Amino acid sequence: MESNDEKEISGFSKMGKREKIAWLAKNFLYENPIKIVNEFAGFWHDNVEAQKLLDGFSENTLTNFPVPFGIAPNFKINEKIFAVPMVIEESSVVAAASNAAKFWLSRGGFKAHVFNTKKVGQVHLVYRGDKEKFISFFHTIKTELIFGVKHITSKMEERGGGVLDMELLDFTHLEPDYYQIRAYFETVDSMGANFINSCLEEFGKLFQQKISESPLFTDYEKDTEIVMCILSNYTPECIVRAEVSCKVSELGTFDNGSMTADEFAWKFERAVNIARIDPYRATTHNKGIMNGIDAVVLATGNDFRAVEACVHTYACRDGVYRSLSMCEVKDGQFRFWMDVPIAIGTVGGLTSLHPLAKRSLEMLGNPNARQLMEVIACVGLAQNFGALRSLTTVGIQAGHMKMHLPNILASMNATDVEITEAQKYFEGKVVSVVAVRDFLEKMRSTNH
Ligand code: MEV
Repeated sequence: MESNDEKEISGFSKMGKREKIAWLAKNFLYENPIKIVNEFAGFWHDNVEAQKLLDGFSENTLTNFPVPFGIAPNFKINEKIFAVPMVIEESSVVAAASNAAKFWLSRGGFKAHVFNTKKVGQVHLVYRGDKEKFISFFHTIKTELIFGVKHITSKMEERGGGVLDMELLDFTHLEPDYYQIRAYFETVDSMGANFINSCLEEFGKLFQQKISESPLFTDYEKDTEIVMCILSNYTPECIVRAEVSCKVSELGTFDNGSMTADEFAWKFERAVNIARIDPYRATTHNKGIMNGIDAVVLATGNDFRAVEACVHTYACRDGVYRSLSMCEVKDGQFRFWMDVPIAIGTVGGLTSLHPLAKRSLEMLGNPNARQLMEVIACVGLAQNFGALRSLTTVGIQAGHMKMHLPNILASMNATDVEITEAQKYFEGKVVSVVAVRDFLEKMRSTNH
């Protein structure tokens, strides 16, 4: 059996970048280490300072992993036109967003509105003792707790944020002696994770201290344990609505005129309703929405995992995983909208460090967090509209495979001439891996 000894390492993080790659090549890739080092180094930034900045974002960095950065122009949102930056590796997503943006541009555009931006944090703790006394003590010292973090919150308060409120929740029926301080925050234009976590850790310490100093508690009861202090990525009150609407008759015709606006509206509404009742469909439906949301979240240097986690919890808030979007066709009017929780920031973190994230924000007019939430939600809705429009008319594969053609050709090592010929040949034809392979084989055999 192969030995694992060489694969274990200590002090890896202290090695230089070339050394790290060479070690990896020797122990896990088994190709000529010089070739692998050169391959990885080929993706390093030419500018040493820029590379240093990127390396600093993470740990054990070997190289960069390039992903396309594109824009979806023609987004009319609350009467303002945007060219929206999107970072995504999946073909046809940016095209679908751009097409949907153009479609709604001449039909009033998107409307968006932020309802609230409340964030949440939790101190999870264990208290063994008299419940009533504990709860009433929390209420008497709550203001002191909030005041006790002023040294952390004062700057945020100057910007209009801070700690909004907190409550003590009793979970002892589910987990022995487990209580939770749930705190609510306004973090204005920052995502606020560090701010919230700092406040929570201070709340935990202060709460423990107040209990230990209080004559109300026995020594046994004073032995309160803080299990952990951390923000919650579930922010059901950090909500933005994105919406489009028009007269059904204004929708136009579809599938080369073979589908009327009425038929389309009926089928589209049906497709959304299916995703509202069936979690299997809802998951794919929402994945399409997240294609748009994640791409803008990433382009603006925000945390897409946090947004993803929150959105999916929100999608099953009534106990069943459902579509985030909704559609209503009533009295000749088509209305398509979505309420979605998006906790992001436009200051702090990567937003102000990553040069392309900064450019993304600049091209969006340096929005505040609320404005960025609106843009992100509209792109999610546009993406969903684009996917459902294809699905309910010509099917998804026609457009998707057309956009995917360059990737198929690249995977078959097509030359520039072959790519040009293939693109001409597949114009108006159905693209598939088999069809592309056949085409290339024929072309290559005739050229021999
Ligand atoms: C593919 O990335 C996304 C879709 O599957 C979304 C959908 O089915 O609604 C096209």
